[in-house]
Amino acid sequence: TRTPVNVTVTGAAGQIGYALLFRIASGHLLGADVPVNLRLLEIPQGVKAAEGVAMELDDCAFPLLRDITITDQANVAFDGANVALLVGARPRTAGMERGDLLSANGGIFGPQGKAINAHAADDIKVLVVGNPANTNALIAQRNAPDVPAERFTAMTRLDHNRAVAQLAKKAGVTVEDVKKVTIWGNHSATQYPDLFHAEISGKAAFDAVGAEQSWVEDFFIPKVAKRGAEIIEVRGASSAASAANAAIDHVYTWVNGTPAGDWTSMGIVSDGSYGVPEGLISSFPVTTKDGKFEIVQGLELSEFDRARIDASVKELAEERDAVQELGLI
Ligand code: NAI
Repeated sequence: TRTPVNVTVTGAAGQIGYALLFRIASGHLLGADVPVNLRLLEIPQGVKAAEGVAMELDDCAFPLLRDITITDQANVAFDGANVALLVGARPRTAGMERGDLLSANGGIFGPQGKAINAHAADDIKVLVVGNPANTNALIAQRNAPDVPAERFTAMTRLDHNRAVAQLAKKAGVTVEDVKKVTIWGNHSATQYPDLFHAEISGKAAFDAVGAEQSWVEDFFIPKVAKRGAEIIEVRGASSAASAANAAIDHVYTWVNGTPAGDWTSMGIVSDGSYGVPEGLISSFPVTTKDGKFEIVQGLELSEFDRARIDASVKELAEERDAVQELGLI
């Protein structure tokens, strides 16, 4: 039998946690034959609710779920972690300035990065979901100097999946016919969902959906980039099940590979590709294989692509400068 994989989830008692843990335990994160131990990290006020979730996990009698640890200590939660899903974060509350938001999150992701550095397994893979995801991932990564930088990633898979779904709907095809969609830049309203390099049933997506440039600019891009706000307005609560699903997809693809003829979107440490300054955690088109990923190279960028990517990357650079000034990295 296989050794269980240690999966750490922070913010385990939150709404994403509630949609995420049961799918990890049922084998959707890593594969249907991989046993898991769950390590749940919460703040002290969240521990009791996390215990309740763990009781429900027990009650599912999942064959792959071995052990559950619940703690408010990062050093315990990340001990021997092979995969870490950093979901818990400090949300922006009314009247909060960006600097306050970044420093509150620095107080979470700095110590968690240090705990990962000191205690995680050598093969640790980190996905940051908690917002502002890219910059939180940067803070954690910079606080974990002994861990290879590429092991820290930020989630733009929800945006990616949203873009795929919108294109499939517009073209009247199934989502499986939509390939090579890219989210570039920051997981924020400045992100650039790129359909110009995408394909639908083997044809250029732009032609396949019968699009006009105005549809791309006035409908498609804002629909994807502002979908989170739309969900809040309609559901009365922020995306949770779809965010959990995207986290599952992100890690599953990272570990098990992208299908031939397709790629995915991940926020990863830039190596300078496509003019994105080295070291920023920005979303790129990536292919994955054997637990490693590569940025898709050689895509030709139009002026429109370039301007959209630059605007989002500029925001990432400003966030990096702000956390640098705050002494968080
Ligand atoms: P939630 O508020 O329901 O749950 C967050 C949980 O994190 C709470 O139980 C809280 O006690 C816990 N927590 C806070 N600080 C913690 C810490 N230092 N250590 C451990 N746990 C901590 O929020 P929800 O809906 O589950 O969302 C979580 C995060 O995910 C938010 O930051 C949200 O903005 C973000 N998000 C990101 C998406 C993406 O596409 N990257 C999509 C949707 C949400």
